[in-house]
Amino acid sequence: PEVEIQVFQEISSTSQVMKQKALESRLPHGSFVAANSQIEGRGRKGRSFYSPKGSGLYLSVLLYPGKTVQESLEMTAAAAVAVCKAVRESCGVSLDIKWVNDLYLQGKKVCGILTEAVTDFETGDIEFAVVGIGLNLYEPEEGFPGELRQKAGTILQKGQQVDRNRLAACIVNCLLKEVEKKGIPGEYIAWNIIPGRKIKLHSDFKSRIVLAERISEDGRLVIRNEQGQEEILSATDVSLEL
Ligand code: BTN
Repeated sequence: PEVEIQVFQEISSTSQVMKQKALESRLPHGSFVAANSQIEGRGRKGRSFYSPKGSGLYLSVLLYPGKTVQESLEMTAAAAVAVCKAVRESCGVSLDIKWVNDLYLQGKKVCGILTEAVTDFETGDIEFAVVGIGLNLYEPEEGFPGELRQKAGTILQKGQQVDRNRLAACIVNCLLKEVEKKGIPGEYIAWNIIPGRKIKLHSDFKSRIVLAERISEDGRLVIRNEQGQEEILSATDVSLEL
């Protein structure tokens, strides 16, 4: 069946709408919802994602990955790689990946990715997943607000432009190709800027500074802790600052 594509000027959240549609009827793998702005853009860990009009591209793609959490992790890594490839092809810009799933350009976050999996209540199997991608293409008219001013950047610089429709199509095509491959993509590990850096980890009200050693073959973060021991962390355990 043909994929379903819906495009909005403004929407609550592309991921919320995509999820709702997928719950109402079985839509094909690769269907997506895109918008120019979001009123309630969602980020990881219940945060909001700043999504003003004229600035970005917000899209959410419906996927049927395998049934396990590891497969959903692989899909998230595939999404990061797919966006990097699509942005390089459409905008001529190479992005860095910051474990788990932020994309950076010159030290600033320019894209956030949020994968939400809907599981069967009884078996715990994944029924479908919605991969939400938010790209800051241009500087917002009034600049980024508050603390985002330090942290957020844009993919394009003043005077540069990209055709959003083509970029969206390119991202979805790359994503579908990446998720076909099994395992964590090699590029996900190679393009990660975390290994070798001192990072600040936050978990359960504590934060600590540790050395990030590498990304493991299964997409987890290997660190060296204060006692000099190796620890392997998953995305659900911690959040991280550069
Ligand atoms: C993060 O950086 O914490 C993840 C941000 C994910 C934002 C995208 S924008 C499109 C989709 N719709 C949402 O409400 N969120 C995701």
